[in-house]
Amino acid sequence: MTALRSTLDTSTPEYATNRDAMLAKLAEVEAEHAKAVGGGGEKYVARHHRRGKLTVRERVELLLDADAPFLELSPLAGWGSDYPVGASVVTGIGVVSGVQCVIIGNDPTVRGGASNPWTVRKIFRACDIAWENHLPVINLVESGGADLPSQKEIFIPGGRLFRDLTRLSAAGIPTIALVFGNSTAGGAYVPGMSDHVVMVEDAAKVFLGGPPLVKMATGEEADEESLGGAAMHARRSGLADHLARDEYDALRLGRRIVARLNRRETGTAPAVAAPPRYDEEELLGIVPDGLKVPFDPREVLARVVDDSDFDEVKPDYGASLVTGWARIHGYPVGVLANARGVLFSEESQKAAQFIQLANQTDTPLLFLHNTTGYMVGTDYEQGGIIKHGAMMINAVSNSRVPHLSVLLGASYGAGHYGMCGRAYDPRFLFAWPSAKSAVMGPQQLAGVLSLVSRAAAEAKGKPYDADGDAALRAAVESQVEAESLPLFLSGRLYDDGVIDPRDTRTVLGLCLSAVHTRPVRGAGFDGTGFGVFRM
Ligand code: COA
Repeated sequence: MTALRSTLDTSTPEYATNRDAMLAKLAEVEAEHAKAVGGGGEKYVARHHRRGKLTVRERVELLLDADAPFLELSPLAGWGSDYPVGASVVTGIGVVSGVQCVIIGNDPTVRGGASNPWTVRKIFRACDIAWENHLPVINLVESGGADLPSQKEIFIPGGRLFRDLTRLSAAGIPTIALVFGNSTAGGAYVPGMSDHVVMVEDAAKVFLGGPPLVKMATGEEADEESLGGAAMHARRSGLADHLARDEYDALRLGRRIVARLNRRETGTAPAVAAPPRYDEEELLGIVPDGLKVPFDPREVLARVVDDSDFDEVKPDYGASLVTGWARIHGYPVGVLANARGVLFSEESQKAAQFIQLANQTDTPLLFLHNTTGYMVGTDYEQGGIIKHGAMMINAVSNSRVPHLSVLLGASYGAGHYGMCGRAYDPRFLFAWPSAKSAVMGPQQLAGVLSLVSRAAAEAKGKPYDADGDAALRAAVESQVEAESLPLFLSGRLYDDGVIDPRDTRTVLGLCLSAVHTRPVRGAGFDGTGFGVFRM
């Protein structure tokens, strides 16, 4: 038992400043979450309720087991775009009839629940999560189909949704559609491709073309009920397996379907877990505002891992990267956490070796980011920093144990890649409100751009324009700063959500639970590969 001993002094002015800054950032994030929760706004929510319908979040709540948590994914999708925050769909992981499921629910109060380019990306991400973690998918359908003005962005890529549903089914991952309202045109293939379909009487409308389109196409005068009503599909077409009396009945039927899926989770069950010895509340005061000063990630681990118990590996070698073993909610994890920002050759080799060790023991990996990237400079280039960074990136790319990433602070340059950034397919990636991610820091990027433009002007024999250069630097700096912030990155689906630091342990526990629906297996230690390379 090797418990971390915290040296965080919560009575210092630094702690108070850090905490205030984190709370201010968190308040901004919460205000944006509130927009997603508000759906299409009061007017449309009230109209929806007047029609006797439940909102998508009410549907999700009633579908889940009593008091079961819901790990909402990508709630800020679409932030900073022309489309509403949340992208007119709610996605997440929750427990239904004792089974972990991915839930995808259209929000019919936002532009009729129509799918815009961000909706499509958000749904694809939810399908990827279902695929990787072998989780059944439940679609709560009520949507105006494609957002017509943006059809060019979604029509062609959007077909993937129906492909994904049937591929999930082929992989033995059940898919369920509960249809509460419109599911027109392409949308009709959501129930069409699902293994189990429930439709709500007098409400579900599922047709390839509605009455006006049919009239235009063939001249036939048709009514909605005969074209695609729930009763018709339950009794005539056979598209519906169950006719629900109302929304509550549909949710009840959905829960019964899941109960009969005969799901057997074959992954390891978690060990009994003790909570951390230090207060999670204190996670608010660890990361310095502006990220100019390094912080010790052990202070974070002491408030996240079971019993604050952490066995560090190679503590005296490559000390800018902390590596070691812990458990979170009873699940074992190998941790890689940046300590002093820069990754040198030693840190890179240490990471590559540690990732192999985790693969040898089938242990999932947790990456805690606060890095400005790999070290540059003549000495480092001559010392082989590219080769060593490549070892780390190689190891992270070919590792087969599940990876979880949390951006606590900076995540710049190739350091973002080596620490399992989005492109390296971590099973889940979340950001704290203090996170920043870009190709490099805004000041450095503006400075590099200025030096390059200056050299280009000189090469062409043009005079150097100092005022123009200063204006360019300022403009680029503020643009890159804005584009590095978590709201912006989360809006573009580059993470699965921005989380309250105090929720880190809970969020990671839910992710690890999802990951363990099947056995965790590392790469290449089945007698056919090499042993762990000592670096
Ligand atoms: N694309 C873009 N905007 C859409 C939309 C779509 N597919 N469907 C609905 N909207 C907009 C509406 O224009 C309306 O905007 P407004 O309030 O600013 O005027 C808002 O969403 C709400 O729509 P409304 O028709 O008032 O809602 P409703 O609940 O009464 O009806 C639908 C919802 C989905 C039944 C109805 O809007 C509809 O039939 N939409 C078109 C469906 C379709 O044919 N889609 C093509 C699929 S490929």
